[in-house]
Amino acid sequence: MNRPDPPTFRIGRIGPADLGAYKNLRDESLRLHPDAFDNDIESEHARPPEGYISRLGLSEPLGGTFLLGAWDGQALVGMVGMERQSLQKLRHSAELNSMNVRPSHMGLGVGDQLMTACIAEARRAIGLEQITLRVSTSSNAAIRLYQRAGFQACGVVPHVIKLIDGPGQVRYFDKLTMVLIL
Ligand SMILES: CC(C)(COP(=O)(O)OP(=O)(O)OC[C@H]1O[C@@H](n2cnc3c(N)ncnc32)[C@H](O)[C@@H]1OP(=O)(O)O)[C@@H](O)C(=O)NCCC(=O)NCCS
Repeated sequence: MNRPDPPTFRIGRIGPADLGAYKNLRDESLRLHPDAFDNDIESEHARPPEGYISRLGLSEPLGGTFLLGAWDGQALVGMVGMERQSLQKLRHSAELNSMNVRPSHMGLGVGDQLMTACIAEARRAIGLEQITLRVSTSSNAAIRLYQRAGFQACGVVPHVIKLIDGPGQVRYFDKLTMVLIL
């Protein structure tokens, strides 16, 4: 059966004026999905919005470092980040991070639209050859999203994330590395 056309959201670069909304969505996501992200909300909460400005890639002339947002009207409802490696021998690679969509907007194609725009933006970066990412093996929807976009799995590192929920209550999460050759 054919799927109806997905609603379209405005996808674009997150700029300095959007960093407040970016931080709100980021903090919400860190709180809701502690298994999915390396950063913890307790440490990140106090960080001011302008503390994320280097993620915008404003001083990266060749491209490959940026944040993209998905807007529903005025509301930022999803985002994804790309960070190009800085060392000479690694600069043909960038790491995808921060992929998340507000729960109210999941399952509507926002993630797919962000990923399509992210790959297109990466292809415009001069000399960028591949995108890597690490995803918790518990993040099944994210893994399916990356597979749809063409990412290949490379291997699993066990126990990368350790969550301590209380005395004697520890959960570990493994991370799958994936790569997309541009
Ligand atoms: C992973 C994540 C970003 C996906 O975002 P999303 O916007 O829900 O993604 P999409 O809507 O594009 O796809 C989700 C599902 O909806 C389906 N879908 C997309 N558009 C659709 C439409 N118009 N009609 C029906 N289904 C649709 C997709 O096929 C997909 O199905 P699947 O889960 O069976 O694979 C989101 O679940 C999330 O933020 N998770 C928590 C954070 C996280 O794990 N981030 C990854 C860090 S590495």
